[in-house]
Amino acid sequence: MTRKGIILAGGAGRRLYPATATSSKQLLPVYNKPMIYYPLSMLMLTGIREVLIISTPDDLPNFKRIFGDGSGLGMAFEYAVQQEPRGLADAFIIGEAFLDGAPSCLVLGDNILYGNTIGSVMKKASSRREGATIFGYPVKDPSRFGVVEFDKDWNVLSVEEKPTSPKSAHAIPGVYFYDAQASTLAKQIRPSRRGELEITSLNHLYLQQKQLTVEVFGRGVAWFDTGTHHSLLQAANFVETIEERQGMMIGCIEEIAYSNQWICSERLNKAATQMGGGSYSDYLKRLAANEGRGERF
Ligand code: G1P
Repeated sequence: MTRKGIILAGGAGRRLYPATATSSKQLLPVYNKPMIYYPLSMLMLTGIREVLIISTPDDLPNFKRIFGDGSGLGMAFEYAVQQEPRGLADAFIIGEAFLDGAPSCLVLGDNILYGNTIGSVMKKASSRREGATIFGYPVKDPSRFGVVEFDKDWNVLSVEEKPTSPKSAHAIPGVYFYDAQASTLAKQIRPSRRGELEITSLNHLYLQQKQLTVEVFGRGVAWFDTGTHHSLLQAANFVETIEERQGMMIGCIEEIAYSNQWICSERLNKAATQMGGGSYSDYLKRLAANEGRGERF
């Protein structure tokens, strides 16, 4: 079965208040596009075309307004409400009917990964039909994240959620690949001390079955979670720096759809025209005119 994608874009965005007073956190701009474009582009680079967006009852209509049924990108989008922030693993309970037994990739709506190896690493993880794949990324402050410990042969030894004494420096970014068991296993999880169905608990169930694989992103890959005002600005500055220097966009979903041959140049032009001008629209028009198509990711 073809792998399907889930983007979890819920939460109250309290740490970013008052920037999130009237907007979903995942719709705040990271430089020149909404935050959710970046995790969506990761799914697209993996080749995933069917995507479920999960958000709060208040915010879901705004995501629908942006993406519609996904056909503008040559994709198929569905939407589901998460009534309460019950945790990341809840995505697989909410998304069970959507997945309908398919393997999946969950991305968090506030995670941005960038680097020229991302596409190939994600595709490799996606090609594994059995078990789960998570990623490790070295950080200075692993206690703020899920942490994965592994041995010299890359066997996972432990996964822990925000440990006070981390067993490794490798945080687990918000991108996860699962086989068809994810929804069944998610229903076995009990809420943690913070009252959430932790994604780390789901990963732990896979580890117990010896079905958890880790891939490590090293130097040359940038990972941002945009959970604070500071990290949001850092991510925006990073995107601006690369885009201005190279003249190529990061997380431009129309460009990736075009490059994947999911949409044709007429569709790209139409998207540009509907935007009614501006630098993003000009960029799409240049692409449609076939300037510089090729090694863009
Ligand atoms: C969540 C996960 C954590 C992961 C992080 C990535 O943390 O629980 O394991 O490392 O996302 O952004 P939260 O953002 O819920 O604190």
